[in-house]
Amino acid sequence: MVMGRFRWLKLAVLFSLLAVCGGRELRATHKDPLPFYNRTLAKILVEYASAVYMTDLTELFTWTCSRCNDMTKGFEIIELIVDIQHCLQGFVGVAQDLNAIVIAFRGTQEHSLQNWIEDLFWKQLDLNYPGMPDAMVHHGFYSAYHNTTLRPAVLDAVKKARQLYGDIGIMVTGHSMGGAMASFCALDLAVNHGARIIQLMTFGQPRIGNSDFASYLSKHVPNTIRIVNDHDIVPHLPPYYSHFPKKTYTHFAREVWLFDIGLGSLVYTVEKVCDGSGEDPTCSRSVAGNSISDHLKYFDVNLKGDSWGSCRMVMDSHTLSYGRTDLNGNIILSRNPATSVLKLNTQTAVL
Ligand SMILES: *[C@@H]1O[C@H](CO)[C@@H](O)[C@H](O)[C@H]1NC(C)=O
Ligand SMILES: *[C@@H]1O[C@H](CO)[C@@H](O)[C@H](O)[C@H]1NC(C)=O
Repeated sequence: MVMGRFRWLKLAVLFSLLAVCGGRELRATHKDPLPFYNRTLAKILVEYASAVYMTDLTELFTWTCSRCNDMTKGFEIIELIVDIQHCLQGFVGVAQDLNAIVIAFRGTQEHSLQNWIEDLFWKQLDLNYPGMPDAMVHHGFYSAYHNTTLRPAVLDAVKKARQLYGDIGIMVTGHSMGGAMASFCALDLAVNHGARIIQLMTFGQPRIGNSDFASYLSKHVPNTIRIVNDHDIVPHLPPYYSHFPKKTYTHFAREVWLFDIGLGSLVYTVEKVCDGSGEDPTCSRSVAGNSISDHLKYFDVNLKGDSWGSCRMVMDSHTLSYGRTDLNGNIILSRNPATSVLKLNTQTAVL
C-alpha cells in the first residue's frame, strides 16, 4: 500500500518534470526554428562517430566491423585515412539510405585521455582563421584537419562521390577532438568547395574558437548541432570566461544537451534544444563539467577506441592493395565508388 503510493508519487514528479522540459523545448522551436534537430539522425551519426575509432582497417574498409551495423548498414567507404604521424583517423563514404556523403573523424587516441583533457585547460586562441578578420582558433585543432593527410584525402573523396552522385548532401561528424576536426571540415567544404547542403553534428566536442569564429561558422554551416551528454567535461573546455566575451573561447550554436531526470528506476533522458547563442546558460553550462564517463558514451553508444593509448592498426594484405602511403608512412585506402554503383545497377536490371 505504502509502496504503491510512493511509486505513484515518483511518476507524478517525473511527469511534471517532463512537462516543464517539453514546454521549454517547444517554445525554443517556435521562436527560432533553425537548425532543426533530428533525433533519428543523431542516433545514426553517433554510430558513424563510434565506428571510426575501430583499429581493424580491413573490417572498417569493408564495413564489417562490430560497430558497422545497426543503423549504418550498407554504408560504402570511399576513402579511409590513417595519419600515423599525428595519430588521426577519418573516413568518407556514401550512405544510400541518407542519400548523403558521410564524413567521420576519430577523437584523440593519445596515451592518456586524462592528460589530453588537462591540456585543454591551457589551449590558447593563437591562430587567425584565414579569410575572416577577428576570428581566432586554436592552432592545434585547426592543424589536425588543415595540416595533415586528412584534408586533401577528404576533399578528394568528396569530389569523387559528387562526380558520381551529383550534389547530394554532406554530413560531417566526430566525437571529442574528432568533433573539432569535423567542424573545421564542414566550414572548409562550405567556404572553399561550394558545398551547399551540409549537416554538421558533433558529440562532446571542445570549444575551438572565439565568438567571431562561432558566428562565422553558424553563418556558413547553419545546420549545425553540437550534442553534449550530461556532465561531459570536454565541452566545458577550454574554459569560457563570460567577463571577456570577445576574447574567450565560445561555442557555436546549436547545443543539444542530454540529461537524465527521474527517480530511482524511472530515469528518462531529456534532449534539450538550446538557444542560438552557443553558450546557453540553461544547458550544459548550468552544471559542472566533471565527468569523463559521460564523455565516452552518447545515446548508449561507445565513443572510444578498442584499446587506449595506441595508434595501432590492423589490416590484411588484400586491403593493403587498396592503399597508398606517403613519405611519412600515412595510409590512405581508397576505392572507386563507381564499381559499387555498377553493381547496384546490375541488380536493379536483374530484378
Ligand atoms: C530525420 O532523419 C531521418 C534519417 O535521415 C529521416 O529519415 C527523417 O525523415 C528525418 N525526420 C525529419 C522530420 O526530417
Ligand atoms: C604544418 O605541418 C608541418 C609539418 O608537420 C609543420 O612544419 C608546419 O609548421 C605546419 N604548419 C602549420 C601552419 O601549422
